[in-house]
Amino acid sequence: MEPSFVLPRVGSVDNPLRLAVLISGGGSGLEALLKFQATEPRCHRTVIVLADSEAAGGLEHGRDAGIASLGIPIPSGPGMSERRLAHEEIVERQIQTAHAELLVLSGYMRILTPSFVGKWKGRIVNIHPSLLPDFPGAHAHRDVLFAGVRTTGCTVHMVDEGVDTGPILAQREVPVLPGDNVKTLQERVKEVEHELYPEVIDMLSSGQFSL
Ligand code: GRF
Repeated sequence: MEPSFVLPRVGSVDNPLRLAVLISGGGSGLEALLKFQATEPRCHRTVIVLADSEAAGGLEHGRDAGIASLGIPIPSGPGMSERRLAHEEIVERQIQTAHAELLVLSGYMRILTPSFVGKWKGRIVNIHPSLLPDFPGAHAHRDVLFAGVRTTGCTVHMVDEGVDTGPILAQREVPVLPGDNVKTLQERVKEVEHELYPEVIDMLSSGQFSL
């Protein structure tokens, strides 16, 4: 039986694993990863940054680091599912052209289609701002506050065909404090994300995970 997750090859300082980072917004997670990669020789490097809009502020972080950074808007056309597939085809082409080997979703707000995930399964990672399987979806902080829990956190996981459901690689807890709102909680969680995600990418790139 074929394995359902094919992990990326093991990178080395001499031959680093090539990362494509996909973003939608300000890209503070991308910025943290680029800093981590710049501080010392790593077994991974970012070769392309892709966003689903030209307005994504985080593209600047990629450009400042001299990395090809492209905003790819959703093409116009009649049907939503056709446009979604056409968008993924353009994204895929850019990933292939850059010879990327691991896709790092860093605040990428689009759900990838099962056919795209199928091609890359084991080689797409995501960070989600809650302790999965609790509070999946696009409004994790709001849902955490509504539920009144006292501990939240972040999760790095492999992407499968579901929404925030793939195998968990690492999690870190963050307290919810009295008086928190979505913004204060998001900021506290992001600080931890910015440490955890580069560390996990480093471990994955050096072959320290098995599924
Ligand atoms: C992060 O909190 C990430 O967990 C979530 O979106 C946010 C992205 O922030 N999926 P940024 O664009 O990296 O600043």
